[in-house]
Amino acid sequence: MLAIYGGEPVRKEPIIARPVVYGPEVLKDIEEVLTSGALVSTHGKWVKAFEQELASFLGVRYAYAVTSGTTALHLALKALGVGPGDEVITTPFTFAASATAALHANAVPIFADIDRETLNLDPASVEEKITDKTKAVVVVHLAGYPAEMDEFMKIADRYGVYIVEDVAQALGAEYRGRKAGSIGHISAFSFYATKHITGGEGGAVATNIAAVAERAKLIRAHGETDKYWYELLGYNYRMTELQGVLLYHEIKRFDELQRRREEYVKAVLDGLVPIDGDLATVVKPKPYVKHSWHLIQILLAVEKLSKPRDFVVEALRKEGVGNVSVAYPTPLYKTPLFQKMEGHGKGCPWSCPFYGRRTEYKPLPNAEWAAERVISLLVLPNLTPEDGADTAKAIRKVLEGLRR
Ligand SMILES: Cc1ncc(COP(=O)(O)O)c(C=O)c1O
Repeated sequence: MLAIYGGEPVRKEPIIARPVVYGPEVLKDIEEVLTSGALVSTHGKWVKAFEQELASFLGVRYAYAVTSGTTALHLALKALGVGPGDEVITTPFTFAASATAALHANAVPIFADIDRETLNLDPASVEEKITDKTKAVVVVHLAGYPAEMDEFMKIADRYGVYIVEDVAQALGAEYRGRKAGSIGHISAFSFYATKHITGGEGGAVATNIAAVAERAKLIRAHGETDKYWYELLGYNYRMTELQGVLLYHEIKRFDELQRRREEYVKAVLDGLVPIDGDLATVVKPKPYVKHSWHLIQILLAVEKLSKPRDFVVEALRKEGVGNVSVAYPTPLYKTPLFQKMEGHGKGCPWSCPFYGRRTEYKPLPNAEWAAERVISLLVLPNLTPEDGADTAKAIRKVLEGLRR
């Protein structure tokens, strides 16, 4: 009997995904930061060391650490000169920041539809949404699955638009042998606690374009070109040394942490084979990409189940699968932020006179289809192959138990 109906759960001790555990050498360096008094990147060495490691990991010329993935995306758009009157195309099937970054830059987010196999932006739909106002496309590598970068770079060349890679969920992913975050004009990373590496909070931008890097660096720190001399509108998006020291050590251990994640993922996918394509479809990488597995995404065959998706999620939690959630239940354009269009107040940027157009967010069928049936498993390096096998067992038990 399903645990949600009072039966024995698959796992008595629930499976919980947790970020990295730090060993003595990291604790020693944290102590050094604390006792040195150099808590900020302007005085310390760790943020700079991390930036170098990140740039070399990605194979890019410039990487700058910031306070979060959200500020990284904002900074990326500002560094490209995105502003009032511009449109930025992105996916509605993502975390809000992929789209709110455009709003923060006073530009209008425009949503394109996704591909049903990858759940990433569909290049053909992006192309349909391009207008003379389009300045950039924020391409999200959702869940760690690299988006079709060759197609997006062709669109960039054809229409003269910038490609911003949102790599918040995809550190370590590869598209045709190139690292996600090294292909577009600029990329943005998040180091929030659930991400591949974490400083609790944190983010970064990366680019190969010297002029864009220069602007990003300036905007990150008040647009200050000389002591108390301000050249352009900037912010304080600097990371602290305590975040820098954690991230430096984690990126050094990336391969080991990723191997553990992959072992868990393999156990889940192997265990789901009997129901894959029947009661559910696991989103699996195409042969030419390397998925970096922030999430395992599973599309439920909702029409074959006697209960709705949210009941399935609750039932899985009751079986002890603590790392299950729904990413994402609602396409962004359906949420009040994008329905009300109040933005910065007085309707800006949608009603900004520099824009001069009316925005209407029409339903995007594939995004709505995915939002209705997706469930996701958070993948972190504490999870074991046994956790993976139990997770698959719980999913099979719940879905078979709810078969119509
Ligand atoms: C796709 C995507 N973009 C951007 C962000 C924003 O990152 P942060 O939470 O570090 O601001 C996230 C965070 O979850 C994300 O998943």
